Amino acid sequence: MPHDPGERKIMKKHKDMGLETKTIHAGQAPDPTFGAVAPPIYQSSTFAFTSPEEGRRRFAGEEDGYMYSRIGNPTTRMFEDNVASLEGGFAGVAVSSGMAAVSTIFLGLLQSGDHVVMTDTVYGPSRILLESELSRFGVTSTFVNSTDITTVEAAMQPKTRIVFVETPTNPTLRVTDLAACAKIAHAHGALLAVDNTFASPILQRPLEHGADIVMHSVTKYINGHADVVGGVVVSKEKEIHAKVLKARILFGASMDPHQSWLVLRGIKTLPMRVRQAEKNAARLATMLEAHPAIAKVVYPGLASHPQRELAARQMDGFGSMISFEPTGGFEAAKALMTRVHIPVLAVSLGGVETLIEHPASMTHAGLPNEELERIGITASLCRLAVGCETIEDLEADLKQALDSLLA
Ligand SMILES: Cc1ncc(COP(=O)(O)O)c(C=O)c1O
Repeated sequence: MPHDPGERKIMKKHKDMGLETKTIHAGQAPDPTFGAVAPPIYQSSTFAFTSPEEGRRRFAGEEDGYMYSRIGNPTTRMFEDNVASLEGGFAGVAVSSGMAAVSTIFLGLLQSGDHVVMTDTVYGPSRILLESELSRFGVTSTFVNSTDITTVEAAMQPKTRIVFVETPTNPTLRVTDLAACAKIAHAHGALLAVDNTFASPILQRPLEHGADIVMHSVTKYINGHADVVGGVVVSKEKEIHAKVLKARILFGASMDPHQSWLVLRGIKTLPMRVRQAEKNAARLATMLEAHPAIAKVVYPGLASHPQRELAARQMDGFGSMISFEPTGGFEAAKALMTRVHIPVLAVSLGGVETLIEHPASMTHAGLPNEELERIGITASLCRLAVGCETIEDLEADLKQALDSLLA
């Protein structure tokens, strides 16, 4: 199987530098042909060899280089090396969506008879993938409230190969102790994989806490401009990376070079966007909690959040996702969502624009009612993905919408 193990010299150059330097430079160097500072889009399906021997060596995996864009592409590689550098991993594998990142991990590392332990409140389709698709291939799974670490330990079986954790979770913003999960997974011979989409590598780097694999829906913070769907998997070790890359090559969920170029452009401002959005979210969460039209606010940075201390220890910030319940149930939630002017009524998150949505009827509508209730997704719960707008504008807009609920 050809793959591009690579020495990743460009990544090593920025290894000990700050996150801002890495997002701007890691994995890239001025174009050797014309000196272009912006990375070129190598929009080519195939690559010429200088000799039959070179083609043979590349397909044999004996030398780094390009053969065919499903296997590897220079623009995509710049993005992969950039994210791998941010997460502190061996290498990255870029894929066509966040769901392709989840499925490529499972397809690369599991076989029939294997067992997975997963956070019960992960992004809905990640759970459905195990429950209704991989179950058809003999993979079994157990879903646990991983915020209570004893449930992870209790769910481990002799054939457990992967513990898959999402933290903070969508939209309940529960936080799981990554170091404790890594310890349990490793004691049972399993790997810890983490969906780091909600935090981004700016606020959380799971490999530093003992995880073996970290993945993102690049669609969200990493790209940051609501114009690309993409995913990426970063592995800590070469051997795991080789398996994930092989699954990407064979199952074919490659990232297109133009998609890679857009996300490489987006990632350069990741630290600034994430920090601005977080600053906005902290102020909005406090304002929401104090408003008489609000029954409940969930934000990891609030003193009322049950895992605030763990979030502060494990993360470099509390993020920009807020969940809240207006008093007055579903009708009040609907009224609020139609009365705000700046937040766009749309699913997704991590872009520069603030979005508002209703998880029970939108992102999480696939879950049965009892399950929604059990994990805390009530009929009145609204999810606010805070963006980078002027905070006074966001505050005034939310306030007028909330005030109108009291009228
Ligand atoms: C936490 C999380 N993981 C994975 C995904 C799937 O990503 P994509 O839509 O890019 O396939 C999403 C999408 O919303 C998500 O929120």
